[in-house]
Amino acid sequence: MKLRYSAASPFVRKVMVVALETGLAPRIERVPTTVAPIQENPDYQREHPLIKVPALVTDEGAVLYDSRVICEYLDSLHQGPKLFPAAGEARWTALRRQALGDGLCDAAVLTRYETFLRPEEKRWEQWIDGQMRKVRGALDALEADAPNFGNGIDIGLIAIGCALGYLDFRYESEHWRSSRPKLAAWYEKFAARASMLETQPK
Ligand code: BEZ
Repeated sequence: MKLRYSAASPFVRKVMVVALETGLAPRIERVPTTVAPIQENPDYQREHPLIKVPALVTDEGAVLYDSRVICEYLDSLHQGPKLFPAAGEARWTALRRQALGDGLCDAAVLTRYETFLRPEEKRWEQWIDGQMRKVRGALDALEADAPNFGNGIDIGLIAIGCALGYLDFRYESEHWRSSRPKLAAWYEKFAARASMLETQPK
């Protein structure tokens, strides 16, 4: 399998954490792929019409995206404990947490584009404020949920771990831990997993 890869993307990281946790990483060739919201890339667009990472080219030649689809596909390829609970409350909880972690990343990445990539005179402050309100709202909801996280792992917790890792990587000045001690305590242990240490963003 080939994975369209960027070491900075929290969504690529989510896929790599799943690959490492499930033992599938040795079967995945990482193909460094640079994408940017205003950059044309006709060759890559033929493979992935949205010109985003990650995308996974399977051994059969199918192209899968986005990270949620790729992660569930990888989870279908191994016989170990599943990262996507099969049914019931555990499944909906894991999927909801995945949506919250991914949504936090979406808002953080969009804010980065608006601040880092856009010329200063064109920046839209209210829009930045709106996105950061989503980031902080998600963090507060995660702080309330953190006592329920336990010591295990599933796709929801992986998404949350990668989202918090992205904040440490790009938003150090946000100091997300200062008013969220339960989330910080959970993350300290989760971030020490081999799969998280091996995929730290660069
Ligand atoms: C980043 O550099 O922050 C980034 C790169 C790729 C996807 C998302 C974020």
